[in-house]
Amino acid sequence: MQTLRDSLSSDRARVVFDDLVAGRPTVWVPGHTDSPTPDVPFDDLAGAVDAAEERFRWFAPLFEELFPETRPVGGVIESPLTKVSALSATLEDAFGRAVPRNLWVKRDDALAVSGSVKSRGGIHEVLETALTVATDLGIDVSDGPLAFLDPAVRQRMATRRIVVGSTGNLGMSIGLMGAVLGFSVTVHMSHDAKQWKKDRLRTSGVEVVEHETDFTEAVHAGRSAAEADPAAHFIDDENSRSLFAGYAVAGRRLAGQLAATSVIVDDDHPLTVYLPCGIGGAPGGITYGLSTVLGDAVRCVFVEPVDMPAFLLGRLTGLDDAVSVSDIGRGGLTVADGLAVGRPSGFVGATVGHLIAGYATVTDDDLLRTLALARDTADLRLEPSACAGLRAAGCLGDTSGTHVAWLTGGALMPDDEFADLLETGRRLLTHGPRSAKGTTATPSSRR
Ligand SMILES: Cc1ncc(COP(=O)(O)O)c(C=O)c1O
Repeated sequence: MQTLRDSLSSDRARVVFDDLVAGRPTVWVPGHTDSPTPDVPFDDLAGAVDAAEERFRWFAPLFEELFPETRPVGGVIESPLTKVSALSATLEDAFGRAVPRNLWVKRDDALAVSGSVKSRGGIHEVLETALTVATDLGIDVSDGPLAFLDPAVRQRMATRRIVVGSTGNLGMSIGLMGAVLGFSVTVHMSHDAKQWKKDRLRTSGVEVVEHETDFTEAVHAGRSAAEADPAAHFIDDENSRSLFAGYAVAGRRLAGQLAATSVIVDDDHPLTVYLPCGIGGAPGGITYGLSTVLGDAVRCVFVEPVDMPAFLLGRLTGLDDAVSVSDIGRGGLTVADGLAVGRPSGFVGATVGHLIAGYATVTDDDLLRTLALARDTADLRLEPSACAGLRAAGCLGDTSGTHVAWLTGGALMPDDEFADLLETGRRLLTHGPRSAKGTTATPSSRR
């Protein structure tokens, strides 16, 4: 651990490193030399995102059929963007730090299929796989995507398996979408995964393999199982370009939603987006999509739990996936199960690291407090992971321009599960000691 610390090139980086080791909330704004533009070209990611957009469009009639809530918008799986000024005032009072009043929320907590941001990438890769398998099996889809509802087609699709490792939400989106298209699906779940997510998958006919290990191990187990099965396709949360392209579509669409709401974003009116981060795929793809439309006018902030600051650690040390939170003595269980990832994606760090404006970590107690404030002030029903962006709003110390907290999950949470979290959050707000680790972090300055 000392060697890692000694390798850091500035006092500020060492302060942030010490915060990570101690589990204290922190904020890091990298200097330009910390995240140089990668030598590796984008490997035509822009083309991959165009293709993903086109694929979603092609499948829209099937979504209209399967998910009636998408009918009024022609089968587009998208979530609303809403302004929450009252919530920003409440957050400011509760946490004692300036929170921008021009605060909006991107409601992926209400997204179709699995009620989380992971639907975007997960669904996309399932759709791409379905088209490849259809070609392989000689299934004629020239009349459009409704062919996948034909029982004879589904029987043939069932001969192919999709395998994925997950902390919960990616498994939910791939399991539910895969099952809908007739695939056999196996989800390898880490020890963080919630019981209700496993139950939900099993009732939908998905095979769930439970692991007593962390997410990285669950992914590796899934990869090995898929390699041993010629009929299987492994969806790789650590490396998948297809997942990434699916998330990136959301970044482009947010830019369109802001324009449609007459929100100006330019160099004089910056946009700051707070993104809950696990392995980095969802926030990385969104960051890429946003930056292709808005350039330097957008500033993306990745937010992680203090116990699982994998992406920040990887970027701070420059080691990306060659370092794990266990190397600095962290990695305990977190209430933010969706963000419980100890080793980040190396692919995402290398591809979009230079586009990320800042990083923040937040405590579990603060996530629960935020969950209660969001419910009581704005009638939002969020899972703890989804509260990370809200808690970090304003963390760079600049409240100018427009701010968007990405609410990444919640809709499918069972009522009793939510009621327990809400009660704990309310109790922490009323009686609880401010977290021993501290509840606010001060922004770092550029080096
Ligand atoms: C609710 C929620 N938010 C955010 C994320 C972060 O996505 P990623 O792991 O791709 O960084 C996840 C991941 O599962 C999640 O479940």
